[in-house]
Amino acid sequence: MSDKVYLNGEYLPLSEAKVSVLDRGFLFGDGVYEVIPAYAGRLFRLEDHIVRLNNSLAGIRLPLSYSVADWQAIFQPMLDSSKDQYIYLQVTRGYAAKRDHGFPEQIVPTVFAMCSEIKPFAGRVNGIKAVTLDDTRWQMCNIKAITLLANILLRQEALDQDCGEALLVKDGYVTEGAASNLFAVIDGVLVTPAKNHEILPGITRDVILELAATNNVAYREDVIALEQLKAASEVWVTSSTREIVPVIELDGVAVGEGKPGPVWHTVDNLLQTYKKSLS
Ligand code: PDD
Repeated sequence: MSDKVYLNGEYLPLSEAKVSVLDRGFLFGDGVYEVIPAYAGRLFRLEDHIVRLNNSLAGIRLPLSYSVADWQAIFQPMLDSSKDQYIYLQVTRGYAAKRDHGFPEQIVPTVFAMCSEIKPFAGRVNGIKAVTLDDTRWQMCNIKAITLLANILLRQEALDQDCGEALLVKDGYVTEGAASNLFAVIDGVLVTPAKNHEILPGITRDVILELAATNNVAYREDVIALEQLKAASEVWVTSSTREIVPVIELDGVAVGEGKPGPVWHTVDNLLQTYKKSLS
């Protein structure tokens, strides 16, 4: 973690950054967040993250009009060009004098950001085990809400079963992971669920589809039935902090040959090259 965090216009040591217990983020989980990687001090796809942030803010009816340049100016002092890091940004509906489900009349959002190092994740190259679980989340999963109880219970259930991620199942098809998007290679084609209210529109997901399109990797956005997932030759989960992680065992059964597959190798290489081209 960088020494200083940002809170409502100030840079402070983490131990001095305090918000009221009446903050609606604390009382209701009334807020949204972003996780934005920065490679060698450069924020990755900042504009896309800010578009998603603004969609999340609109989704919870919380007006806040900071430009991309405003956010860049807030984050930059926390970045270190000798490291790979990520910014965690959280905006809540702020303090209200009384606990009340309805919005307060005067809203002053709480804006908090901190910067942490991205540590290499061994599962990215070795693969992880995953388990399928019922998607118990709410119906607005396109909003990156801080209210993450279902996600954390699902991830913990996966960890308890010695797995790295939970793949979520709704009405017989898979949506995404507890904290990741989902890809599968089905009959040689890379498939990922289309964007809708059932999944978070992942920035890593977008980058992968762009790289697939420009490098002749066959792909489509489509529903993935649980049986199709179980028969897929490759399964991956993707996120900003872990990038593209191959799932090598699903519900106790090897995926493909039980090791990262050829399409993962191709697309992971494309992503690593793309990241280097930006620095
Ligand atoms: N989570 N789906 C969910 C439910 C997620 O929580 C995440 C990321 C993603 C991937 O989105 P992106 O590629 O933009 O990181 C998909 C972050 C990393 C987190 O909650 O820490």
